[in-house]
Amino acid sequence: MAVSSGLATTLAAAKMEAFSLNSSLPQASSSGSMSLRAYLAPSQLRPFPNPARNNFRRRAMLKGGLRCEVAASSSSGDAVVETAEINIDLDRVSSLSALEQLKISASDRYTKERASIVAIGLSIHTAPVEMREKLAIPEAEWPRAIAELCNLNHIEEAAVLSTCNRMEIYVVALSQHRGVKEVTEWMSKTSGIPVAEICEHRFLLYNNDATRHLFEVSSGLDSLVLGEGQILAQVKQVVKVGQGVVGFGRNISGLFKHAISVGKRVRTETSIAAGAVSVSSAAVELALMKLPESAHATARMLVVGAGKMGKLVIKHLVAKGCTKMVVVNRSEERVAAIREEHKDDVEIIYRPLTDMFSCAAEADVIFTSTASDVPLFLKEDVKDLEGSRFFVDISVPRNVGSCVNDLENVRVFNVDDLKEVVAANKEDRLRKAMEAQEIITEETKQFEAWRDSLETVPTIKKLRAYAERIRLAELEKCLAKMGDDIPKKTRRAVDDLSRGILNKLLHGPMQHLRCDGSDSRTLSETLENMHALNRMFSLETEVAILEQKIRAKTSQK
Ligand SMILES: NC(=O)c1ccc[n+]([C@@H]2O[C@H](COP(=O)([O-])OP(=O)(O)OC[C@H]3O[C@@H](n4cnc5c(N)ncnc54)[C@H](OP(=O)(O)O)[C@@H]3O)[C@@H](O)[C@H]2O)c1
Repeated sequence: MAVSSGLATTLAAAKMEAFSLNSSLPQASSSGSMSLRAYLAPSQLRPFPNPARNNFRRRAMLKGGLRCEVAASSSSGDAVVETAEINIDLDRVSSLSALEQLKISASDRYTKERASIVAIGLSIHTAPVEMREKLAIPEAEWPRAIAELCNLNHIEEAAVLSTCNRMEIYVVALSQHRGVKEVTEWMSKTSGIPVAEICEHRFLLYNNDATRHLFEVSSGLDSLVLGEGQILAQVKQVVKVGQGVVGFGRNISGLFKHAISVGKRVRTETSIAAGAVSVSSAAVELALMKLPESAHATARMLVVGAGKMGKLVIKHLVAKGCTKMVVVNRSEERVAAIREEHKDDVEIIYRPLTDMFSCAAEADVIFTSTASDVPLFLKEDVKDLEGSRFFVDISVPRNVGSCVNDLENVRVFNVDDLKEVVAANKEDRLRKAMEAQEIITEETKQFEAWRDSLETVPTIKKLRAYAERIRLAELEKCLAKMGDDIPKKTRRAVDDLSRGILNKLLHGPMQHLRCDGSDSRTLSETLENMHALNRMFSLETEVAILEQKIRAKTSQK
């Protein structure tokens, strides 16, 4: 047990660390407004700016007039010239009101962020059931929720994972802080829970941490019963329902599809889901273990007691393929209700308590789970029964007297035997959860690499468009010089020539932007190439695209 609690503490500590790290990020205040700190760009909070910012871009910014990153420094000679220009700009800045400056710095800030994957959630670990049930969104409403979320100014893609244990929203946010604020306000509006209360119980995870969390969820590592399978089915359902929904976009659907394969991989490679972890399932598992495999389908099963535990035993027996059983109970009502629930799967024969010994005589396995405070089976009740059998007694106080175990042809397992099995299985699952973390680390890297590879697409498009603009301009100049009366054939030849030169020149850079695994180039090399090309040709891909997207969204309204 010491091992298990140690492992549990490690897992819990890792999770808490993620939460506390994120809680140090600027967040919406309880009133829903952002703190001043949240509005300021990191460069503005730092006493010294990032020296890596390149001169080329700085000059372009300075030419363009006021930008808040005026403090960009450099050790190179031309920084002196720029400092003079910067001072002029600073004079202009100081003439603006503080509010104006804040607004400008804020808009500048968010266009510099890369779109992020953010998980905003409340789960069984962070929020009480009263909150979770108000936040829950039924499956039929998921497409509407995705559409509403994507209609928010800073949200581009979305998915909703709403189960009885968690309400988690995954988004691609064009700005982390504004995105979180908008989603939290949306959650407040749909649930009627004040923003402050949601903030108190929610967790926020960004990019790698969000990816990792979803992979843990789909693997059952965030579930109360480690490795349980229901959550994987629920993650699959998110993908099924999301198909064709516009806001369930490439990044988020990619994330959820990857989470499904991680969930499957973890279960297959670690067999974390093996081994019963509840008393009732352990009772059934133990019974089947004691029977020869060939007898599983034909063994005569008797369940004594049809309360909560009896019902669970019946459920696990049905899940293991049992098609017929006898249930003894004081009253018939509960048995009738269980029979109704499983009417398509199993034949349940009810017998009153007075028939208990005759039923036991005809059973191979007897499960006892009543609230009787005196034993129902004693040595003298069992000793004359023909054949061998075993009892699985999950009652406390016990329904089967310990003296019964003295009989040659009878074995009795009680709740302590089962608890030992359960504890061993739980410990085993914790060990497997540690193995699963290694798989999840590997898969998180793979997913991030895939996401990064999507980044080169805008650069490819922009570089081609940039080159095409130059080609067309130069072609036009050339044709103008050649006069109006040049034959079509010559025009086409010149056009082809310009295209040929362009394609040949672009071939190399395009090859170096490709990361489809067709050559040995690593992803980091490709990304370095991408950043170099962005710098060289001033493509400013991310900024421009984010800016365009935000503008397009706000202007639609
Ligand atoms: N609940 C748990 O998590 C849990 C876990 C491990 C072990 N257990 C043990 O499992 C046993 C059953 O628990 P439960 O949660 O299923 O209780 P429950 O839902 O209250 O059901 C009690 C069952 O016992 C029957 N019963 C009550 N008094 C009886 C008596 N004097 N003689 C014969 N049958 C009697 C009831 O029959 P009627 O339907 O006719 O009332 C009913 O089938 C208890 O000993 C409990 O300690 C429970």
